[in-house]
Amino acid sequence: MKKQKTLIYKCSSCSREEPKWLGRCPECGEWNTFAETIIKNETSGSKNRGSPGLPQTLPLNAVDPIEGSRIGSGIGELDRVLGGGIMKHSAVLVGGEPGIGKSTLMLQLAAAAVTKGRILYVSGEESAGQLRLRADRLGIAKDKMERIEILCSGNLEEIEAVLKNINPVLVLVDSAQTLFYEERSSAGSVNQMKLCSFELITWVKEHDAALFLTAHVTKEGLISGPKALEHMVDTVLYFEQNDRTSGADDCRFLRAAKNRFGSVDEIGIFTMGERGLSSVEDTGRMFLVRREGLELPPGVATAAVLEGSRTILVEIQALTIPAKGSMSRVFSDKIDSGRVSRVSAALEKHLGLQGKPGLRLSDHDLYVNAAGGIRITEVGVELALACALYSARTGLALPADLAIAGELSLTGEIRPVRRLSSRVKTASNLGFSAFLGPEAKDIKSAIKLAYGS
Ligand code: TYD
Ligand code: MG
Repeated sequence: MKKQKTLIYKCSSCSREEPKWLGRCPECGEWNTFAETIIKNETSGSKNRGSPGLPQTLPLNAVDPIEGSRIGSGIGELDRVLGGGIMKHSAVLVGGEPGIGKSTLMLQLAAAAVTKGRILYVSGEESAGQLRLRADRLGIAKDKMERIEILCSGNLEEIEAVLKNINPVLVLVDSAQTLFYEERSSAGSVNQMKLCSFELITWVKEHDAALFLTAHVTKEGLISGPKALEHMVDTVLYFEQNDRTSGADDCRFLRAAKNRFGSVDEIGIFTMGERGLSSVEDTGRMFLVRREGLELPPGVATAAVLEGSRTILVEIQALTIPAKGSMSRVFSDKIDSGRVSRVSAALEKHLGLQGKPGLRLSDHDLYVNAAGGIRITEVGVELALACALYSARTGLALPADLAIAGELSLTGEIRPVRRLSSRVKTASNLGFSAFLGPEAKDIKSAIKLAYGS
């Protein structure tokens, strides 16, 4: 049966349909609510399929659970962020800056996915020859290549024809920004990207398949990139990188910004090497600086923080410099600068005696960093941050074998943190013989304990 497509404009507020785009909906009076939509008309008569009665509902216990229908991605860290594999019928968006490794991840996924079905790799960015070159470089085996079908096109209708023909279980589209629908003049626009992505998402929802879409984030236009697609997909993953200047391994972090089928706390950690991305399951000393038994310099403290289900040890580095003007500033990318300001204020206030500040930080510029370029959002980092700031400001180095975890309240008290025993265990496995935790009741006694007095 031949399907014919028509493009119409639909009001997102009242669903009124119009053949042309209108600035204002004549029905509900809302502005800028018309968006293009494709409708598929069946040309030969099947209109009378089913009765036009009430929409069908089902009691919940009669519904087949779709949990369990996951496909292993074959990449440990990707499975971790997805929540245990790729959910069938789901759409995953992978965003990140150009050059971060989105295409590499897609090709490695195509090779590693634990499925017997076909895999369609749609590339609008690279030629088939370039993809083959990359596959060889990644060391993808011949038998894995056999099941990967390459389509170098961004044309939605071509892609849809291929989908129908080969019926893949995994559809990888690199990238959403190269998709276009021919009947529209403005190829490459955000609307085109949304429209085509929506069609592909609909296809996987209706078939036994899953979709991965990549999208570049550009410095200027978040809106023209992945943000515009976030609401349509089930899972949004962002690829981030540590500072290229840091001497640590070339680490890449995959974070979930949205996940209908798992937690958004988990991060995937990869290193990019000669043969593509490798999963890092054991983070060990990755976020610590190797000093070969030497003492720590002032301004450094080791935090035991949680990243999803694992504990990592991270070196927190602080530097304080007298502020030039009357305003002191905070420079911190890896830990939220609001948190740095709050911790330094609590430190200044509560180390003093009888209302006098014991340690002035408010007239200093504060620089804070985390080794290995990992971004830390967990609250348990606060006590280590306070110790690093104290150490930087006083010039007193902390003991090298000390790991720290705790939340610092505005009142100067140290509050308990989740999964303390796991933090202590990981630290001890890595050779830290002392642990400063919430047993110190306030910041004053915590600082004393940290210096062993
Ligand atoms: P790529 O996957 O093309 O990035 P994106 O699709 O996000 O733009 O990754 C490109 C970078 O990765 C590029 O700088 C080269 C590097 N790379 C390696 O270091 N090793 C490899 O094996 C591959 C394939 C790429
Ligand atoms: Mg790419």
